Amino acid sequence: MDDRLTEGHDSIDGEDVEPSLTGLAVGVNPGGAPKVFIRTFGCQMNVYDSERMMEALAAHGYAQTGHIGDADLVILNTCHIREKAAEKVYSDLGRVRQVKEERGAAGHETVVAVVGCVAQAEGAEIAARAPVVDLVVGPQSYHRLPELIERSRSQTRTVVDTTFPEEDKFSRLPPRAPAHAVTAFLTVQEGCDKFCTFCVVPYTRGMEYSRPVADVEGEARRLVSSGVREITLLGQNVNAYHGDGPDGRPWSLAKLIRRLAQIEGLERLRYTTSHPGDMSEDLIAAHGEEAKLMPYLHLPFQAGADRILAAMNRKHTAGQYLDTVARIRKAQPEIALSTDIIVGFPGETEPEFAETLALVAEVGFAQAYSFKYSARPGTPAGKLADQVPDPVKTERLARLQELLERQQTAFNERCVGRTLPVLFDRPGKHPGQLVGRSPFLQAVHAEAAAGERGRILPVEILAFSPNSLVGVIRSA
Ligand code: 5AD
Ligand code: SF4
Repeated sequence: MDDRLTEGHDSIDGEDVEPSLTGLAVGVNPGGAPKVFIRTFGCQMNVYDSERMMEALAAHGYAQTGHIGDADLVILNTCHIREKAAEKVYSDLGRVRQVKEERGAAGHETVVAVVGCVAQAEGAEIAARAPVVDLVVGPQSYHRLPELIERSRSQTRTVVDTTFPEEDKFSRLPPRAPAHAVTAFLTVQEGCDKFCTFCVVPYTRGMEYSRPVADVEGEARRLVSSGVREITLLGQNVNAYHGDGPDGRPWSLAKLIRRLAQIEGLERLRYTTSHPGDMSEDLIAAHGEEAKLMPYLHLPFQAGADRILAAMNRKHTAGQYLDTVARIRKAQPEIALSTDIIVGFPGETEPEFAETLALVAEVGFAQAYSFKYSARPGTPAGKLADQVPDPVKTERLARLQELLERQQTAFNERCVGRTLPVLFDRPGKHPGQLVGRSPFLQAVHAEAAAGERGRILPVEILAFSPNSLVGVIRSA
């Protein structure tokens, strides 16, 4: 499955959050547009969904605020992937209740909505546990948010919509608003039919669905005309993409990428997250042939032992994963690989965990995300008796992360002395600095004028840290 980097959110672990909920001072909305505060948990698909929700609400007159105390509408866009992520929602709701009470005392109404995957998984139970919640909306229904908010105003009971409506959410949303950003996410595929035994995604996001090529292309063109230079195509299983093409036939992700690469002004394409079983030959070939497709691939393998992979229902072995990696590297020798790994799946023995370490050592990752197995309600693995004790998981995770960090640092170190094309996308910490991304998705800091934002410039890499690079712009 399928989360990845976002700005200031450098983790796939579904437990990072943005923006922060700090600064709970109660403000006053001076009778202008109603204000909405959105907090996003979890993966990039949620980041994308939050943007689209905000656009749908803006079309109904809402303005976004970064201060929860000013908000007439508070939205928590939630993640259910691991227990810790789901529980964070409830601790946040405690603080939201405090804000709602303080605003209420000052005569301001606050509507509280829980949306996303926890909403889908827990439905009305959320309101039972946290009565502050007025609205519970699953990921397939958020295009109905404006109408559901109105409904919640006129009824005292919590409004719950966790249906998978027949209508296509994407076609009901307003067209993308201008992005004011250099990089953007674009969801092309949702849901998953793989049913890995540890994972809630097939239940929270539903079965696989691919958006038609024409819709994706239209959205991409709008993003590019508003200044976006790099698009990351998103899907829980993005390389299973099979959207209807203009010729009436299903198109593969590779074909979609080749089509989007023709958009003038779009400089870079990425996609995430992929299942090893869906790394088709045409997608692998595209990595060697399509210059705009960046040499970076997030390809989760989850575990190194074949017995665990089978118990996970991953539908691939360690050997098949290695073979796929070899084919990708043959097509694009430069490719930087990233992955997701779970330690302590039920029944995992020490020798089986050692096979995970061995697979990591053999592949060599530029970056990786690793997690302790978390038993999730409703999943087959959650019911297994031989759960691994938490201290064992903690110890295995520490050993794994130590190896992964060494690999990531070594990868960054190998970039020193090279000149890499960097797409500058945001201001740096200090005036006169910008931060961008290398083709391998590393953050690169350099002295640069603000006007260089949005440009790809050659940067000679001078220094590295485990998480970023520092360089100097060389004339093109
Ligand atoms: N426990 C721990 N990690 C999980 N992931 C998915 N489900 C679980 C779980 N129950 C991890 C997988 C996936 C990533 C997004 O989250 O590694 O690829
Ligand atoms: Fe990824 Fe497996 Fe979850 Fe599907 S079921 S989203 S393939 S981890």
